[in-house]
Amino acid sequence: MELKISNPHYDMLGGADAVKRLVERFYEIMDTDSEALGIRRLHPENLDSSREKLFMFLSGWLGGPQLYVEKHGHPKLRQRHLPFPIGASERDQWMRCMERALIETGVEEKLRAQLTASFFKTADFLRNKEEA
Ligand code: HEM
Repeated sequence: MELKISNPHYDMLGGADAVKRLVERFYEIMDTDSEALGIRRLHPENLDSSREKLFMFLSGWLGGPQLYVEKHGHPKLRQRHLPFPIGASERDQWMRCMERALIETGVEEKLRAQLTASFFKTADFLRNKEEA
């Protein structure tokens, strides 16, 4: 008998298709929401590689296949974000896009609250700008 000891967010969300939908919607929002203009400007004009990297990263981060690590090695997220000035405003813009994406792709409320809290911790950890 197989004993299931964990139910990762990856499965609760709906697996690869759901993660892909979330990432697609996230960048559509970043690309069109005027309140996200500040962080949109930090990204390349063409978002294809951003989409692919975030999808691969989130797959593992949510408890699914470690696609990013297999292809690129350790994510070193803080280090990789150092070229971009990230303060509370940039963090909040990122969170706004992600919270909208979670709602607009129909993620159920309890899971959405858990994921929002985890995303916030990661986004806050990426702040690298001195602020008054
Ligand atoms: C706090 C606000 C954030 C800002 C302003 C920001 C901005 C950026 C920018 C400008 C890039 C480089 C362009 C690209 O490759 O897409 C990037 C890359 C990336 N970001 Fe963020 N990001 C933020 C938060 C996050 C969070 C919370 C996560 C994960 C949950 C994340 C995951 C990634 C990943 C996986 C990459 C690709 C890294 C690489 O392989 O180069 N970012 N981000």
